[in-house]
Amino acid sequence: MKIAVLAGGYSPEREVSLSSGAMITNALMEKGHEVCLIDSYLGIPDGEEIRFYRLKDGMEFSSHIGESAPDLEHVKRRGSLRGIMGNRVMEACMESEMVFLALHGGAGENGQIQAILDGFGIPYTGTGFEGCFKAMDKHLAKLLMLEENIPTPEWRLYEKGSDAEPFVFPCVVKPCGCGSSVGVTMVEEEGQWKKALETAFSCENTVLAEAKVNGREFSVGILGGTALPAIEIKPISGFYNYENKYQPGKTEEICPASLSKEEADHLADLAVKVHKVLSLGYYSRVDFMMKQDGSIYCLEANTLPGMTPYSLLPQEAKAAGISYQELCDLIVRHGKG
Ligand code: DAL
Ligand code: MG
Repeated sequence: MKIAVLAGGYSPEREVSLSSGAMITNALMEKGHEVCLIDSYLGIPDGEEIRFYRLKDGMEFSSHIGESAPDLEHVKRRGSLRGIMGNRVMEACMESEMVFLALHGGAGENGQIQAILDGFGIPYTGTGFEGCFKAMDKHLAKLLMLEENIPTPEWRLYEKGSDAEPFVFPCVVKPCGCGSSVGVTMVEEEGQWKKALETAFSCENTVLAEAKVNGREFSVGILGGTALPAIEIKPISGFYNYENKYQPGKTEEICPASLSKEEADHLADLAVKVHKVLSLGYYSRVDFMMKQDGSIYCLEANTLPGMTPYSLLPQEAKAAGISYQELCDLIVRHGKG
């Protein structure tokens, strides 16, 4: 198949996405596809050939991620400079039989790029416009979960510049529509509140404060409507922040997680339910906390889960006997599912 892999973009998760994109491109070439890896932010300069590579061309892409979370001021400057996708990027998408969206965060995951591709009738992977829109807005996603009786931690919404009276402590302050824990702070007491809000507002103008759930952390991938084995996440120190997500040795990840059959089934059922409630496509990854008494709370769903060397979905697929290459191949063969 002729595939354009879109990666990069200008969201705070740009570097994570470039890593996912490189890994996916290498894997798809190994599966015999012709692949063009495109940085949707840098675009393709006029006059430069749009090239689809095969394994025999000897190209291999690097999936390195830097050590620290991005500088949000720099991200803002970057975002204000360009449109979502240039004409030549669209040209490459039109030349392909399937666009693999390896973008994370921002326009790549909130439905904007999906809507553009829909408008041109270009097939793409992951989740359609509606699901991206519902899942990427954490406030909306939580409202939809509650409507279906899916437990999610209590929260309060804050708009930049409005009354910022503190919510409960401890709480997690997070931008409403970002990923990879960029701009997220665990707030244990009131003294940390103001700084945490400032940090989240430097990412976007709408922020959530969510009651912190103490307990075990799990993530469950969905592939083709079915739950993959759950993974348990245990950062060596602190919470599962950007550094603990993308630096080797910072987090212990156990897959399949050590759970009773009832617990594992309950998590899987909830993950499938969340996936459906949010109208998600062929694949997704749903994140949970489990309290000591066994009660489970859904934190969020990720429409374009990370595919980096440290990401969770590929580990879950592996535990189900699906290699990274097979996972990418399944995703392109099914598109939005
Ligand atoms: N937002 C990151 C890429 C994830 O969910 O894996
Ligand atoms: Mg996320």
